[in-house]
Amino acid sequence: MQDFTFYNPVKVVFGKGSIKQLGTLVPSGVKILMTYGGGSIKQNGVYDQVRESLSERPVMEFGGIQPNPRYETLMKAVEICRRESIEFLLSVGGGSVLDGTKFIALATYYAADDPWDILAKCAPAEKALPIGCVMTLPATGSEMNMMSVISRDSTQEKLAFGNPAVFPQFSILDPETTLSLSIRQTRNGVVDAFVHVMEQYMTYPVDAALQDRQSEGLLMALLDEGPRVVNAPLNTAARANIMWVAAQALNGLIACGVPQDWTTHMIGHELTAFYGLDHAQTLAVVMPAVWWHQKKEKAGKLEQYAERVLKLHPSEDTAGQAISKTEEFFRSLGVNTRLSEYGIGSERFEEIGSRFEQRGIKLGEHGNIGRKEVVKILNLCR
Ligand code: NZQ
Ligand code: ZN
Repeated sequence: MQDFTFYNPVKVVFGKGSIKQLGTLVPSGVKILMTYGGGSIKQNGVYDQVRESLSERPVMEFGGIQPNPRYETLMKAVEICRRESIEFLLSVGGGSVLDGTKFIALATYYAADDPWDILAKCAPAEKALPIGCVMTLPATGSEMNMMSVISRDSTQEKLAFGNPAVFPQFSILDPETTLSLSIRQTRNGVVDAFVHVMEQYMTYPVDAALQDRQSEGLLMALLDEGPRVVNAPLNTAARANIMWVAAQALNGLIACGVPQDWTTHMIGHELTAFYGLDHAQTLAVVMPAVWWHQKKEKAGKLEQYAERVLKLHPSEDTAGQAISKTEEFFRSLGVNTRLSEYGIGSERFEEIGSRFEQRGIKLGEHGNIGRKEVVKILNLCR
């Protein structure tokens, strides 16, 4: 196992009716800005629950944060925070609202010219407004981590940052809030959580016995509970399981002491930036292709996954079987696994590959995936 430091300060309040606890979770006497998305929280009753729980408190609102939250929109909230001397941000919605809120939290205090540099140039930013979260979409794990992914329309970019200052102080996870999710977002959530585990698991063995078993447990729960929730969206027990798995899939725990990949996510972000595909739609297309391309390098872990998670009998090509079965799992949930199914051709593959070269980034746990390899992987996605 490799050396590591583990830190996760997020207080999780899980369960039906837990939004009632907001009143005690948000520090008293602070000026609050509540952030939200396109209006789902007004349709499913979450907005009313939040307002009721904070009834006597001074709360301003900032709505309209888009899926794949846009820098251009978030900067309007930054202006409000500065002008109104906001002291606490309350994110109510999915991963996009929370990621956007994390950016607002840092950008408000960012003294240099353009807060976009936090993403584009990894510019240092230490101070952030404190954040609380009511998560309504289990998928990203943002509710329990310090990551954020922001898109910029003017440059067609989608970039990530991580900063310990933006860990939410608390996250309320009430599975009942997820009953209103569309089938598309429900599927997306299962796929995103599954791929998060894989980015931290499907690399090469380092004798990390506990972390491997933890990851395998999460994968097995998703293989069981994913179809359950897709087939019976009103099943609260299945919703609860998915909600807890998604939070655990990217809260730092299974990353302890193991190599990580993240090639699928990095290429996926480019596909969202150029074509607007949902985050999870890109992942279901790219991950099998990354695995085919890196089959030799990942053989040890692919075989372990085949045996322990998929319960496949060893064959001449166990690794290949594991890849095919995983693609079948995505398809069984109703998620496409080929770019052609979205009407996307190879026109921009070279441009995507070049972007990584321009940024000086090599992908993968071995750092062996550069421009040429990205183009090859994209060709395997067709
Ligand atoms: O905007 P509203 O009206 O709220 O509707 C949203 C949105 O249209 C809707 N929704 C959310 N909760 C709902 C609901 N609809 C009905 N009932 C509910 N309970 O769902 C739509 C999608 O929401 P969004 O927040 O965009 O989805 P998700 O949570 O999957 O977030 C995706 C974003 O997170 C980033 C992605 O790149 C993408 O930008 N990621 C963030 C990560 C992180 N912070 O650690 C890691 C991930 O890998 C990912 O990259
Ligand atoms: Zn993801």
